Amino acid sequence: MSQLPVSWLCESFEAGEFSPALSAWPHPAFVRALKQRPHPGPLPVGEGAEAEDGIAFLSENELKILAGLRFEKRRREWLMGRWTAKKLLTVQLGCAPRELSIEPEAGGAPVVWRAGERVPGCLSISHRGDRATAAWADVLGMQVGVDLELVGEANPAWMVDYLTEAEWGLCEGQGIGWPYLVWSAKEAVLKSLRTGLRVDTREIEALPGEGELDGWRRLDVRSGLLKGDCWVGWRSDGGYLLTMAVLKN
Ligand SMILES: CC(C)(COP(=O)(O)OP(=O)(O)OC[C@H]1O[C@@H](n2cnc3c(N)ncnc32)[C@H](O)[C@@H]1OP(=O)(O)O)[C@@H](O)C(=O)NCCC(=O)NCCS
Repeated sequence: MSQLPVSWLCESFEAGEFSPALSAWPHPAFVRALKQRPHPGPLPVGEGAEAEDGIAFLSENELKILAGLRFEKRRREWLMGRWTAKKLLTVQLGCAPRELSIEPEAGGAPVVWRAGERVPGCLSISHRGDRATAAWADVLGMQVGVDLELVGEANPAWMVDYLTEAEWGLCEGQGIGWPYLVWSAKEAVLKSLRTGLRVDTREIEALPGEGELDGWRRLDVRSGLLKGDCWVGWRSDGGYLLTMAVLKN
């Protein structure tokens, strides 16, 4: 692959303010495209009319989904993800945010609908802390998975059961972020497969790779679950790791 066949966006939402700002992460060409189009508007900041204005970017079905989310943290994450995905998709598809409806299929993976029809392509969403990211692949046979992780404590003991011996063995040499990077890569791959965390994460092994593509550093990923080619890359910013898996069937 000489060019990333995926469009993507990572947004930073200031703590407590819900004020989305363009992060430095998107590809410069994409930032230019975004600036030429209105974004979906602010996220809701409180209750009442102001908050209702803030969710004007949601479709009717999305409003129903939101009404069913009881916990504030989940509502916030879900909104950040929808906002970021719609900002990305309205540029890619040239339409207004409310024309699109992003709804989960049976396994939880997001699907994009427009005027009652499924938009061909693969969308992936991740949210962590104050950031959300979305990636979109519209090439036939291509699937994408993205994952955001925050680097935490060194040698997180809980991960021993989820990493392979080879992955765990690299913790010393690769630095504090390594286990989080490996975990994130596994999640990205599982999202590209549209299965999510329903399999043993040791069925996927991520090891340091060589080379860089559009600012993404390569990881070598092996797994019997992968039937086609799988490219996995990562980048970091402000304590966050962003990992992307692109699967070609
Ligand atoms: C998908 C999954 C890997 C997400 O991991 P996470 O780190 O907690 O959360 P992230 O913010 O990175 O990703 C969440 C997004 O993944 C997407 N997603 C959910 N299930 C997915 C699936 N099967 N395939 C691809 N993407 C999926 C959704 O868009 C979701 O965001 P949304 O619900 O707000 O739209 C994980 O939640 C999962 O596997 N869930 C399904 C199985 C399950 O519920 N297992 C119990 C926990 S072990």
